[in-house]
Amino acid sequence: MKDKIEGLLAKVKEAAPNSAEEIEKFRIEFLGRKGLLKDLAAEFKAVPNEQKREIGQLLNRLKTDVQEKIETLKSAVSSGPAADASGEDMTRPHGQELPGARHPISIVRSEILDIFSRIGFTVAEGPEIEDDWHVFSGLNFPPEHPARDMQDTFFVEGDDRLLRTHTSSVQVREMEKKDPPFRIVMPGRVFRNEAVSARSHCAFHQIEGLYIDKDVSFADLKQTLLYFAQEFFGKAKIRLRPSYFPFTEPSAEMDVYWGLETETDYRITKGTGWLEVLGCGMVDPNVLKASGIDPEVYSGFAFGMGIERITMLRYQIGDLRMFFENDMRFLSQFTSVS
Ligand code: DAH
Repeated sequence: MKDKIEGLLAKVKEAAPNSAEEIEKFRIEFLGRKGLLKDLAAEFKAVPNEQKREIGQLLNRLKTDVQEKIETLKSAVSSGPAADASGEDMTRPHGQELPGARHPISIVRSEILDIFSRIGFTVAEGPEIEDDWHVFSGLNFPPEHPARDMQDTFFVEGDDRLLRTHTSSVQVREMEKKDPPFRIVMPGRVFRNEAVSARSHCAFHQIEGLYIDKDVSFADLKQTLLYFAQEFFGKAKIRLRPSYFPFTEPSAEMDVYWGLETETDYRITKGTGWLEVLGCGMVDPNVLKASGIDPEVYSGFAFGMGIERITMLRYQIGDLRMFFENDMRFLSQFTSVS
């Protein structure tokens, strides 16, 4: 009997049940109503008196060893990391989750689209990989125009697959597909072969606008842009400066009067009080013709703006690269904006 108990003592020492279920099995095996200790107690009765003391002590040791083992295993299982078969501690309090935030470019993009949707503009999109016709020729760019140059344009393969340099290409696609009237805004990503700096990037975002119908005049363009400036910037004064784009005639650039009260006003308006916001103009008759629209019947206006630029003005962001770096310290500042 002595050997038997010693064998069991060794067995207890080595036993390593590692789940609540296995520990319970182990407990039943030794301490259960029909367990080993019960059997041993019965056998003990037959032990000769002179051995009772020694065997009795061994039996007690076995019992306390089993009990201690169960206690330590139980506490290891409930507090240790190896709480279940997957090794995951299912009792650990879960960590603090940071709320997500929309990217500032996405916030401003939807806001602009929303402003135009309130006056009846719908959204259209086109491909980022384009051909020469939709980016240049269909928009009245003369063959030797510098914007077609390798220095500005990323060509994909040959010289008729390129990354669009502006979202004006979507105008052409829409005009080819459908008949007037048009009242659309066209957001998207554009690409130019420019060095990355605080003020420029090789990939950025634009929103293009197109309005074509019978009897559309420059006054309609001006009123539409004034509405946009009031809604987006909360400023009631704009000015249109003469400019040049191949696809509009006349062409203009719109400035918004920002004010010149604080030091920041001076800095972002370069001391003028005015902010340059977008390019616009009356759609050139050649552009209408190229897409099969009769310029004798229809006229219209177009405009295009850079979302990064407008977002920088809105949130006073000094470096355009912030938009592309995905630095959490920057992005988490937009959690409360939807
Ligand atoms: N496509 C021009 C650019 O990328 C922006 C632009 C100017 C769009 C005038 C227009 C427009 O529709 O009428 O700089």
